[in-house]
Amino acid sequence: MSFHAIDQAPARLNRSELAVPGSQPQMFEKAAQSDVDVIFLDLEDAVAPDEKAQARKNIIKALNEIDWGTKTMSIRINGLDTHYMYRDVVDVVEQAGERLDLIMIPKVGTAADVYAIDMIVTQIEDAMGLKKRIGFEHIIETALGMQNVSEIAAASKRNESLHFGVADYAASTRARTTIIGGVNPDYSVLTDPDANNARETHWGDMWHYALARMVVAARANGLRPIDGPFGDFQDPDGYRAAAKRAAVLGCEGKWAIHPSQVALANEVMSPSDAEVTKAGRILTAMAEAEAAGKGAVSLDGRLIDYASIRQAEVLVEKARQIAAG
Ligand code: GLV
Ligand code: MG
Repeated sequence: MSFHAIDQAPARLNRSELAVPGSQPQMFEKAAQSDVDVIFLDLEDAVAPDEKAQARKNIIKALNEIDWGTKTMSIRINGLDTHYMYRDVVDVVEQAGERLDLIMIPKVGTAADVYAIDMIVTQIEDAMGLKKRIGFEHIIETALGMQNVSEIAAASKRNESLHFGVADYAASTRARTTIIGGVNPDYSVLTDPDANNARETHWGDMWHYALARMVVAARANGLRPIDGPFGDFQDPDGYRAAAKRAAVLGCEGKWAIHPSQVALANEVMSPSDAEVTKAGRILTAMAEAEAAGKGAVSLDGRLIDYASIRQAEVLVEKARQIAAG
């Protein structure tokens, strides 16, 4: 290990994160009753400009009055380039800061963006005597944000997670895509002709680099990497495939832009019973090996070492959180 210790963000379940427009208060109760881990009440792109002020009021009322249970509650504020942003932060944190766990910052571009919001939130928390410190979630969804992702990830002690905002990222990079989070058949390889002169087209994942880049920056700073939206909520198989790709790369969760996607995210992002059992066996085998003075041991014909232990510990801890949630 490096001598550089990485502080880990507070351990929260973040398998699913449901987007709920602040301008649609009739959706709030259903969201509160759902099995989602994190809810973000949106003030940004799901809310029209002339509805922003009312959406803010709806959110303040809902945070104070609705029983959200143990869910992690977040608001997505407007971008730093709009005049809505300061009121989003000031009004919601002043008037509902007790029940707010996180603030999601969209289109974050530089570490200075994070610093600016940190400064405002710190002043409000101090002025209001709030004991709990509100965390930050950042959407990496512009070319600038991706270029500066490492600095953004390290910019504040409030940082908890990085989210891949594939829709705006596509717009910002001018990627050729039609469905949010979907793939493009043009991003494919054509195999060489086989003996029968047949060729196959293999579709590729056009989001691979961006997501992998973000995962590295998140993990190097102890943050949760979370995959963003999948727009076609009538395509659960497409959603599952995208979520699985993200999970394989190290993401802990995925957005749900429709309540039906919550169960899919929870399913893909939870360790299976078999994985938890295996992790438990690894920990037992290693404990026995350690007691016998051995550094490495084999289980089911495969070597397990300290890296296997760390992976098993993470898995068992996740399963404990799910059981407790
Ligand atoms: C999310 O905000 C996105 O742009 O994908
Ligand atoms: Mg966006």
